[in-house]
Amino acid sequence: MKKSYLLAIDQGTTSSRAIAFTTEGKTAACASEEFTQHYPENGWVEHNPDDLWNSVLRTCRKVMADLNITADDIIAIGITNQRETTLVWDKKTGKPVYNAIVWQDRRTTAYCESIYSSETEALINAKTGLLLDPYFSASKIRWILDHVPDAKQRAAAGELAFGTVDSFLLWQLTNGKVHRTDATNASRTMLFDIHHQQWDDELLTLFDIPKSMLPEVLDSSADFGVTAAECLGGEIPVYGMAGDQQAALFGHACFDQGMAKSTYGTGCFLMLNTGDTALKSTNRLLTTVAYRLNGKVTYAIEGSIFMAGATMQWIVEGLKLLRHAGESEAIVKDVPLDHGVFLVPSFTGLGAPYWDPNARGAILGLTRDSGISTIVAAALQSVGYQTKDLQKAMERDGLRPKVLRVDGGMVKNNWVLSFLADILGAVVERPQVIETTALGAVYLAGLHAGVFHSTAQLATLWHCERRFEPSLCTEQRNHLYAKWQHAVAQVRL
Ligand code: G3P
Repeated sequence: MKKSYLLAIDQGTTSSRAIAFTTEGKTAACASEEFTQHYPENGWVEHNPDDLWNSVLRTCRKVMADLNITADDIIAIGITNQRETTLVWDKKTGKPVYNAIVWQDRRTTAYCESIYSSETEALINAKTGLLLDPYFSASKIRWILDHVPDAKQRAAAGELAFGTVDSFLLWQLTNGKVHRTDATNASRTMLFDIHHQQWDDELLTLFDIPKSMLPEVLDSSADFGVTAAECLGGEIPVYGMAGDQQAALFGHACFDQGMAKSTYGTGCFLMLNTGDTALKSTNRLLTTVAYRLNGKVTYAIEGSIFMAGATMQWIVEGLKLLRHAGESEAIVKDVPLDHGVFLVPSFTGLGAPYWDPNARGAILGLTRDSGISTIVAAALQSVGYQTKDLQKAMERDGLRPKVLRVDGGMVKNNWVLSFLADILGAVVERPQVIETTALGAVYLAGLHAGVFHSTAQLATLWHCERRFEPSLCTEQRNHLYAKWQHAVAQVRL
């Protein structure tokens, strides 16, 4: 039988998903599994590596069972993943020495402050495009080496491997044969020189991390290895790999300079393609690798917000104001935009453009009239306002995308996207396939497999499902945004 599917593994912050796509880029089957979040201390977030691996394996097997296919029917796999999340494992046994420390984890705040100086941050920023923040992998690796008994000595002896989730999954899928990553994931570790496309010795010395721990860095569309037969019942090549936000940019076909996308998952990540220029932000946005194809790097500017869908998760599971996030659209439909309540979701600090790990969340402006619908509206609007913060920072850097392509669970909500268009004063486009992250991963795999031939061809596969045009006048928009800025200032005191 002719091989006919491309399989995406999308290992995210709260769930693992496997999605089989046809060679026309259409979704054929999908399986998803949530796993436990561990919060051992205030500000700490961990995942059990077994949960990550087993949920990936189970969802892949489920998709194959649903389609009644075997490994022989799968042309190639593309892996996409929550970025920065840090794993360290034993090279002989493959056993992690500690839980995965998740990108949201702030335990290394004091460490980052202890090595901070304007020169150090300038050095890091010049080489990696990042800022000195606990968000990225380097300080998390340092923490594991410092806190797990013998880890430092074992790492120095070359016995331990580091990887972001992509690398860890590849190691497991290949039964310990392959230790590789791609340039997009490497660019989030704070150890990778994005201009020279190599691990940086000076940064490795700064964080005291042995080079022997690091994976080999390949293009995002490349031959990463083949799965061991015991995983999925046969050998399947892994041909695509990218961090989830970069994969979403790719899945949105934002291949031209100036094109932008915003993904609303756990957090929100706005990324704008800057072509072959690693544009340096003067407004605390990140410069990052968008993708690397045939050795050629395309860069992006990124604004990262830590709480988007996670805010709604808190509304549902924490406050129990709704039974599920899907109820939110109906409950807020009659709430006026200017209701006066602001929810600043800085539960784990603020990301771009503030980078304030010490800010904490607040609901401001409550009156006796404020009910569940107002608080839910404020939670949904916080996502739009935070995107506006990123848009403003990009504008100050001289960048202004006219159209924003969006994806992620929250974009099913029309009220959210209308407000987003209103507050940005820009057109927001929702694609037909909102599994954009997974789509990007299979585009990368399909390019290497020869299923797709060029990014130009991929661009023809992107179709808009609905456009949201702004309808607020400038005065109203500025008025609302000024109030949001006032609310943010309150949580940063
Ligand atoms: O940088 C973190 C990001 O990659 C997480 O994405 O979709 O799991 O919220 P997501």
